[in-house]
Amino acid sequence: MSTVPSLQDRRIVLGLTGGIACYKAAELARELVKAGATVQVVMTEAAEAFITPVTMQALSGRRVFTSQWDAREANNMAHINLTRDADAVLVAPASADFLAKLAHGGADDLLSLLCLARPRDHCALLVAPAMNREMWSHPATQRNVAQLRHDGAVVLGPDTGDQACGEVGDGRMLEADELRDDLIAHLQAKLLVGKRVLVTAGPTFEAIDPVRGITNLSSGKMGFAIARAAQEAGAQVTLVAGPVSLSTPRHVQRIDVHSAQQMHDAVLPLAAAHDVFVATAAVADWRPATFAQRKIKKDGARSAPTFELTENPDILAAVARLPDRPYCVGFAAETDDLARNARDKLARKNVPLIVGNLGPATFGRDDNALLLVDARGERQLASADKLTLARELVREIAERLQAST
Ligand code: CTP
Repeated sequence: MSTVPSLQDRRIVLGLTGGIACYKAAELARELVKAGATVQVVMTEAAEAFITPVTMQALSGRRVFTSQWDAREANNMAHINLTRDADAVLVAPASADFLAKLAHGGADDLLSLLCLARPRDHCALLVAPAMNREMWSHPATQRNVAQLRHDGAVVLGPDTGDQACGEVGDGRMLEADELRDDLIAHLQAKLLVGKRVLVTAGPTFEAIDPVRGITNLSSGKMGFAIARAAQEAGAQVTLVAGPVSLSTPRHVQRIDVHSAQQMHDAVLPLAAAHDVFVATAAVADWRPATFAQRKIKKDGARSAPTFELTENPDILAAVARLPDRPYCVGFAAETDDLARNARDKLARKNVPLIVGNLGPATFGRDDNALLLVDARGERQLASADKLTLARELVREIAERLQAST
């Protein structure tokens, strides 16, 4: 299995400015390095009052730059050299003062200087504001942020909640893992901008009585990875999830359901407003015909109870029957004869694309291998981690969507 770290071969300049959120920047540097990035830390003088360059050097594995007069660069032009082969400058934390400086093109320290001097066509500027809520909501700050957005900067957050000063409100810097994921998303190809994608994921749970039910081993990981990959590609994503213990991908709207009927009832009214429907859920085919209001007791009965089953609605087939249906992608989890079963499903569900995988072998695992089956033929996506596969699948879907319109 090949696992491709999401920031492999990416070069990131991580800028720190003065703020208590500098403590989160240490964790962020670690997360970015773990995701495969080369991280060059640049700190302002105010940032050094909160965290030392020693810490940031140890975590990034590279010497930290703090001054525009740093003579280590042969040409003495750190403000030029550091961004020429960088993919992005991420300023986290970005103080109110630093945002003001950026908005006005100020350049009296190394970090602001390199933000101004960066090659804007291939080196994005992302800022993660961190400040007291009054400072954040002040018209001057809001004016500066609007100007920065207008100039092409990407503003990540801020979050809302408890602040270091004891107040509660907007202005907290996003957490390290959130900033990492937003940066990763920013660097993905924007293949689905303006598109709406609906995804079902996970198992369903068909209740027998208040404490028991029928379910299956689907973990939901593939569906959640597809929701994330579609969002990274610029789509607006709705994820209808059965009972799983997975965290929601960033900026994805999630609707939790339990049973197949609930999943059906959540999906059907939404489907026509979406451009793409990806049905990864392992929907239970049957449910108990009746629900016992109270726990079924053994009560000394001599024989085990028997349950009559009734068929659940087929969600994918129902969406595919809609007159203004989205582009429908079905999954086929099979134990054998993958290609033939997937092709059968393509016809039976009347959808343009079926993605086959060998079910029990992949349930709950982080990797998978997929077989794409459509009218053109078959295409194998080799074994990889589910997020890598999801990104490849999103590329394949975007290509077919483009061809179909
Ligand atoms: N599916 C669905 N609603 C159902 C059953 C399946 O939306 N009630 C979707 C799944 O999400 C998947 C595709 O249909 O995208 C195929 O699911 P699968 O369980 O493999 O197919 P079935 O139609 O149930 O056929 P079988 O179990 O006989 O293989």
